[in-house]
Amino acid sequence: MKTILCIGAGYVGGPTMAMIALKCPEYRVVVVDIDAERIRAWQSDRLPIYEPGLDRVVKAALNRNLFFSTDITSSIAEADIIFVSVNTPTKTFGQGSGRAADLQFWEKTAREILAHSTTDKIVVEKSTLPVRTAEAMERILHSGRAGVHFEVLSNPEFLAEGTAVRDLENPDRVLIGGHDTDSGRRAVAELVSIYAHWVPRDRILTASVWSSELSKLAANAFLAQRISSINSLSALCEHTEADVSEVARAIGMDNRIGPRFLNASVGFGGSCFKKDILNLVYLCDHYGLHEVAAYWEQVVKMNEYQEDRFVQNVIASMFNTVAGKRIAVFGFAFKADTGDTRESPAIRVVRGLVAERAQVVVTDPQALGNAHRDLADLGDAVTFEIDPVKAAVGAHALAVMTEWSDYERLDYRRIYGDMVKPAFVFDGRNRLNHRALFDLGFNVYPIGKKPLSHL
Ligand code: UDX
Ligand code: UDX
Repeated sequence: MKTILCIGAGYVGGPTMAMIALKCPEYRVVVVDIDAERIRAWQSDRLPIYEPGLDRVVKAALNRNLFFSTDITSSIAEADIIFVSVNTPTKTFGQGSGRAADLQFWEKTAREILAHSTTDKIVVEKSTLPVRTAEAMERILHSGRAGVHFEVLSNPEFLAEGTAVRDLENPDRVLIGGHDTDSGRRAVAELVSIYAHWVPRDRILTASVWSSELSKLAANAFLAQRISSINSLSALCEHTEADVSEVARAIGMDNRIGPRFLNASVGFGGSCFKKDILNLVYLCDHYGLHEVAAYWEQVVKMNEYQEDRFVQNVIASMFNTVAGKRIAVFGFAFKADTGDTRESPAIRVVRGLVAERAQVVVTDPQALGNAHRDLADLGDAVTFEIDPVKAAVGAHALAVMTEWSDYERLDYRRIYGDMVKPAFVFDGRNRLNHRALFDLGFNVYPIGKKPLSHL
C-alpha cells in the first residue's frame, strides 16, 4: 500500500487529503502538522475548521486510510508522495516586506523532507507559491546524499472556503505541473491517476511546473480583479443613480463576461486574494515589469478603498458622528459558510468604526472565536454576541459584513422595534430585502445603489 503524506493540516491540506483518502482507499493518507491541538481536533468530533459537508468526508475515511499525526519525522520516512501545504504568508519583515511571500516554513519543510528521506519521493507543492519556487525546493532537496531522487510537482488547489467539499468532489479542473523528463512524466502520471479516481480525465490538466505555479496566482488575481472592477463601478453608481446589480446583470449576460463573481460588496477577504496578488506584484517588480506590477496592485488598492469608503459612508449618513453609538456588525467571517476571518473586510471596518469611538457589537454564527482574537487589542470598544437579534438591541445601526443566509430571514420588525431611531442598515453584501426594510422604517444604505432613506 502506498503512502501519501501531507505536511500542513490547515484549510487546504485537511479537506484535500480527506477527499483523496475517501476516493482512493488503496492509498494510506497521513496528514501531519506542528500544531498538536489542530491534529487532535481533526481526530475529534469537532473539526478545527467549519466547512459544510466536511464531517461526512472525514468520518468516512478516518482511521480507515486517513490518519492525522504530529510525528513528522517518521511520516516523511514512510511516505511515497509528499504534499506540502504549509502556510506561505506575506512577509512582515526585511526585503519585500508586505508583498513577497514568507518562505521560511516552506524551506524548513524542504529541509525536513531531505533529512528524513531514505527512499525516492514525489514532492507536491500544494501551497500557493511564487513562480519558480519549485526550483529552490529542488536545489535544497538535491543538496543531500546521492541516491535518493526527489521529483517536484506543482498541484495548486483551487477550492474556495465554504464550498471546499463541493469544489474538491467536482472541481472545474485539476492542474498538475511537472518537468518534461522521464521521471517528471512518470510522477505526473502517478498524480493524475490519483485524481482520476473521481475527476473526469479531461478535467485533469498537465503543464510545466512554472505554468502551473503562475496559473494559481493568475486565477486568484483574475477573480479578485472582477470584484474590484464591479466595486469600482459601485462607487460610480452611488453618484449617478445607476444600480450596480442592474449593471452586473446586464454585463454578466454577455457570454464572454459571464455572470459569476460580479457581486459588489464591502470588499473581498480571505487568506489568498490579497496575498497572492501582492506576490504577483513583487515578482513583476523583481523582473523590472513595473507597469505590470502597478496594474495588479491597483486591484488590492481598490479593495482597501472600498472598505474605507464603507466606513466613511456609515459616518456621513449618521450625521457625521458615530461616537458613542452602538453599531451591530452582522457577520465577521470573510464570506458565508466559514468561520475563517483572515483578511476579512469586517476587520478594517470595525477598526475604522472604533477609531470614530463607536461602540461595536459583533455577531457571527461561526467566526466569533476568530473575531475575538482579531480584535483583542480594542478592549471594551467591541463586544461579541452570538444572537443577531440580541446584538441589535439598543443599536443605532446594523452593518452587514458577511452574506450569511440566516441574516435574510431574521425578524426585522422586532429588530427595528429594539433599535434607537432613526435606525440604519448598511448592507455591505446587498443581500437583504431593502424595500421591505425601508417599509419597516429603516434607512437603508446598500452598496452601489441609491439609499432608501426617510430622512
Ligand atoms: C496554506 C497557504 O496559506 C496557502 O498559500 C496555500 O495555498 C495552502 O496552504 P491554509 O491551508 O489555508 O493555506 O493555511 P493554514 O490553515 O494556515 O494551514 C497551514 C498549516 O501548516 C497550519 O496548520 C500550520 O500549523 C502548518 N505548518 C506550518 C506546519 O505543519 N509546519 C510548518 O512549518 C508551518
Ligand atoms: C479563493 C478562490 O476562489 C479559490 O479558487 C482559491 O483556491 C482560494 O481563494 P476563497 O478566498 O476561499 O477562494 O473564497 P471566494 O469565494 O473566492 O471569495 C473571496 C472573497 O471575495 C470573499 O470575501 C467573498 O465574499 C468576496 N466576493 C466573492 C465578493 O465580494 N463578490 C463576489 O462576487 C464574489
